[in-house]
Amino acid sequence: MAIQIAPSILSADFANLERDIARVSTADLLHVDVMDAHFVPNLTLGLPIVERIVQVSPIPVDAHLMIENPDYWAPRYAEAGAASVTFHYEAAKNPVAIARDLRALGVRASVALKPGTDASVILDDLKEFDMVLVMTVEPGFGGQAFMPDMLPKIEAVRAAADAAVASGELTVAPWIQVDGGIATATAPSVAAAGADVLVAGSAVYGEPFPADAIAALRSIAQGAVSGAHHH
Ligand code: DX5
Ligand code: ZN
Repeated sequence: MAIQIAPSILSADFANLERDIARVSTADLLHVDVMDAHFVPNLTLGLPIVERIVQVSPIPVDAHLMIENPDYWAPRYAEAGAASVTFHYEAAKNPVAIARDLRALGVRASVALKPGTDASVILDDLKEFDMVLVMTVEPGFGGQAFMPDMLPKIEAVRAAADAAVASGELTVAPWIQVDGGIATATAPSVAAAGADVLVAGSAVYGEPFPADAIAALRSIAQGAVSGAHHH
């Protein structure tokens, strides 16, 4: 699959959100970080703001829910208009039930794994998910350093997804997303490991021209995939 870029508005100007969302219209997905100061130590924004973001965004919204009780809240974000809802495995009582609820609402169901959570917890249920997010930092804050020790986890999800497609168990592989410390220096390694959706906050909004940063990330990541041989 072609590499997709998902700018995180955590690094945008929250007083000029509509303008900053328009600035990333050449990207594939708008990454909106929802934090509740319980699941993670930080607090960002919630349902009413996501509802408005969806209305003004020129590209589909993926809500990354770093919150407790996603069993209740994840479907609310689907109803608010997110095209994709990403919830944390660690916070979920029943991850498969959440994914089924999301799909029943017509949105993409995505499960996220913190750095300490092994890929094996979701590999038997891959068919339930449209995307798997392998966190490459501890969730909670933008601008942290990429964790290279997450590369084997990306490779493990990629291998399992490709094997499920090869065996006919799946018709299409879930997208594999990475989030945290993604920049032109780190994008090649995650793309070569098998990630196909790259979230970037500071590497997009920290640049003078976000559209140029998106294009640069896309082309350097795509180049690393074309050079790899496991697809
Ligand atoms: C962190 C968030 C990320 C954050 C990434 O918990 O989930 O989406 O915005 O920021 P960068 O790209 O700056 O590491
Ligand atoms: Zn995020």
